[in-house]
Amino acid sequence: MQRLLTSAPAVGTVCGLEIAFSGPGRPWLTTPVRNPVIAALDVPTAERALELAGHLAPDIGALKVGKELFTSAGPELVRQLRATGAAVFLDLKFHDIPNTVARAVEAAVRLDVQMLTMHTSGGLAMMKAAVEAAEAAARQCQRPAPLLLGVTVLTSLDDASLKEVGIDRPVAAQVEWLARLAVRAGVRGLVCSPQELGLLRSVLPRDIQLVTPGIRPAGAALGDQKRTLTPRQAMAAGADWLVVGRPIVAAPDPRAALRELLASLA
Ligand code: C5P
Repeated sequence: MQRLLTSAPAVGTVCGLEIAFSGPGRPWLTTPVRNPVIAALDVPTAERALELAGHLAPDIGALKVGKELFTSAGPELVRQLRATGAAVFLDLKFHDIPNTVARAVEAAVRLDVQMLTMHTSGGLAMMKAAVEAAEAAARQCQRPAPLLLGVTVLTSLDDASLKEVGIDRPVAAQVEWLARLAVRAGVRGLVCSPQELGLLRSVLPRDIQLVTPGIRPAGAALGDQKRTLTPRQAMAAGADWLVVGRPIVAAPDPRAALRELLASLA
């Protein structure tokens, strides 16, 4: 099922469904990641993560490992997840001095993750060091460089919280500022909320890949997400990748929930 396509056909086949994704870009067709849906493994233990991976691996685009799971289960879990055949998105949001972030990115590439994150507020030099480290390590390991994504302003922050840390600009202006800085550093993708898709699509080069959480299939519980889009709406608004947690991982049948979500993109 995992295919490495070099040309981008208009239609992809995902779990037996012919899917013509409505987003303007189809980057998953030219990467080892087979479709745009990323399941956030927001679970506390390796056992639960591996159980979910067993259900999802045949059809998922990538499995996202965040700080909670990585801190409790570590690199060995990432290796085990990769062994299922699924791509891995290591969401540790690196932010440190350039050398430290570069070495961490290098370690992530050696671990064979396909996507990873860092904070754009770490600065131009830090981002450049990270991009160079990702490419050099990938060359050494003879595998495609992972998609290194920049995080701009966390959605938990508002204008007042930015002021508290000395940033006297509205959130949207700060998101745009950091996104442009990331592009200058050679970063190829950004994580953004559904609300930021329109802004970023209008100001960034089209080949910058946008990864969007806050996705809820029609009728799904919102949980603590306040402003959501359906998978189809998010792709139409310019998302290249969709991060989906609870609607898949907390579903009674995660694989069926994933398949239904993929079908909604067809
Ligand atoms: O369960 P749910 O679909 O809300 O999970 C969304 C995932 O995306 C979680 O892993 C969450 O940490 C992540 N995320 C988010 N909002 C952001 C950045 C990341 O929901 N702004």
